[in-house]
Amino acid sequence: MGAEPLLKIENLVKHFHVRLGAFGEKAATVYALDDIDLSIMEGETLSLVGESGCGKSTTGFTILNLYRATSGKVLYRGQNLAELDEREMRPFRRDLQIVFQDPYSTLNPRMTIGEAIGEPILFHKLAGKAEVKDKVAALLADVGLPARFAQRYPHELSGGQRQRVVIARALACQPKFIVCDEAISALDVSIQAQIINLLLDLQEKYGLTYLFIAHDLAVVRHISTRVGVMYLGRLAELASREDLFGEPLHPYTKALLSAVPETNPAHERTRQRQILQGDVPSPLDPPSGCRFHTRCPIAMSVCSAKIPAWREARPGHYVACHAVEAGAPS
Ligand SMILES: Nc1ncnc2c1ncn2[C@@H]1O[C@H](COP(=O)(O)OP(=O)(O)O)[C@@H](O)[C@H]1O
Ligand code: SF4
Ligand SMILES: [Mg+2]
Repeated sequence: MGAEPLLKIENLVKHFHVRLGAFGEKAATVYALDDIDLSIMEGETLSLVGESGCGKSTTGFTILNLYRATSGKVLYRGQNLAELDEREMRPFRRDLQIVFQDPYSTLNPRMTIGEAIGEPILFHKLAGKAEVKDKVAALLADVGLPARFAQRYPHELSGGQRQRVVIARALACQPKFIVCDEAISALDVSIQAQIINLLLDLQEKYGLTYLFIAHDLAVVRHISTRVGVMYLGRLAELASREDLFGEPLHPYTKALLSAVPETNPAHERTRQRQILQGDVPSPLDPPSGCRFHTRCPIAMSVCSAKIPAWREARPGHYVACHAVEAGAPS
């Protein structure tokens, strides 16, 4: 991991204005992301975890300016991407790619694999028409597929092969940064491992930086340099993989981790599973103060009154929790 941040995200906020009711008569706000502060270091894999709906995808989309930020900054090479319109974004689009859970939605069913991978090469003028075929073959080789696959259509491929094609298409742009949004979640477990290893090999070969969005904590533990834990649109904790899994500080992180089976049978026998009470509150009306206070086993009176500051509790270990601030035992 390089010492320099590739992306610096400052106070990023994304609210969606929606209309509710049978006739859309009521205006409401979805507080999807609030005050996210985060640096993504060159060459690292930063994972984001948290329950469904906590804002992981919105973070990825807003960083890439696919969703327009409500406020805050996304600094990339000295430029705040959040203030750029689509035309101004064009020079940055090549560097910043995304791979989704469902490769079918990314691939045009009427385009051959060769055309799909060749399209961004021609669009970004990375090669002339004559060289595209060779480039496509090299990209297919990069993702472990034979060159003859260029003539095939998406429906002729398995799910794992299609995800390899989507990765090749993202690589065609020679990107610096890839958001992998649940990119392996829909695949069989055995195929997941292959795609993870492919992503790690490509990261090393091309010096890629990943924002890896996932809900499988065992996978996150395997792949990440650092891990961020989100709860209801806010970051609860962020630390190196070792610190987060070894010494979690936030009560929510502790609850999440307690649900992961231990690979060491001795540890597994003594594992205390902590079940969170209640449902995740609605992002239409998030709880005051610490958004976790309605479910936190150690909530205090200050927790519903005051938003806990996002601070570096240990070197490189960030957390937002009044109990940690007050020096309570972790
Ligand atoms: N385009 C949108 N319009 C309105 N609400 C949205 C939109 N996209 C996401 N949301 C809401 O924002 C919240 C965060 O969603 P999301 O980022 O998709 O969560 P995650 O990826 O962690 O499951 C959810 O409540 C979701 O319903
Ligand atoms: S701030 Fe309070 S409610 Fe929130 S996690 Fe910490 S102790 Fe629990
Ligand atoms: Mg998502």
